[in-house]
Amino acid sequence: MIKKGIILAGGHGTRMSPLTKAVNKQLLPIYDKPLIYYPLSVLMLAGIKNILIIVNKGQLPQFKKILQDGKRFGIKISYAEQLKPKGLPDAFILGEKFIKNDKVALILGDNFFYGQSLTKNLKECVKLNSGCKILVHPVNKPEHFGIAKINVNRKITSIKEKPKNSKSNLAITGLYFFDNSVIKMSKSLKPSKRNELEIVDLLNRYRKKNKLKAEFLGRGGAWLDTGSIEDFHNTSSFVSALENRQGFKIACLEEIALNYNWINKNGIKKAINFYGNCIYSNYLKKLIK
Ligand code: TTP
Repeated sequence: MIKKGIILAGGHGTRMSPLTKAVNKQLLPIYDKPLIYYPLSVLMLAGIKNILIIVNKGQLPQFKKILQDGKRFGIKISYAEQLKPKGLPDAFILGEKFIKNDKVALILGDNFFYGQSLTKNLKECVKLNSGCKILVHPVNKPEHFGIAKINVNRKITSIKEKPKNSKSNLAITGLYFFDNSVIKMSKSLKPSKRNELEIVDLLNRYRKKNKLKAEFLGRGGAWLDTGSIEDFHNTSSFVSALENRQGFKIACLEEIALNYNWINKNGIKKAINFYGNCIYSNYLKKLIK
């Protein structure tokens, strides 16, 4: 069972400039909460309570101000700084001491997942025994994504970055589950032409050993990117539309913790105190009525 997770929440944020010049992308709002709440909710829904958040140099105080040590959500959050965005596999080098001898999940801090079967998918993924599992989802424009080809046993037979005329439309999302050999494998990667360690190279190592499998989010699930200003705005509108129609909040971390019995009513009261008088607190109040 995977019990540890990493959120990679640094990055250049180039496409979102000037918004990201002073503030980390993951702290900008997706409708009514900071973006980081959404990937954090995914790890929590997977049952993962021990989480490392990797941020850019100098940005720790802002993240700690909002997420603290995780007790508010009944989890343990630790932090690490990445001096430069050296690529996604750098998470496992920076996170070596956190991972120790365990398996680990990685989610990109700007990825948004939603859907009825999401929790079922996640619970399946954390059962990983060995190798690597990734979550794939169909996309309309394969030429913009990392694309996987899959055989009948859900084994991945090829991975291509932004392929032209691809027969497969299965994009590799920003959620990955790895066995402990990920640390050693990441350390042995060489930087690419853009001088980054590439996740595709890491996944290909697992694939060549016949140890890379896929889990499908399914048609009813949504995976949205928040990398560009347009995507960011669209994801925000999606959350606003759903929350206002249903009256349920997406990625209310205290609600997930309460449902999993990681915190009690008293914990919700403390959270209300923390947030002060706002719509989010009003929602929390309803949970313990
Ligand atoms: P990217 O897609 O590289 O996006 P970015 O945030 O760096 O922005 P841009 O491309 O506009 O410059 O990264 C995906 C996510 O992973 C994002 O949340 C930032 C994070 N990340 C790191 O934390 N460290 C890294 O070294 C890299 C490459 C990304």
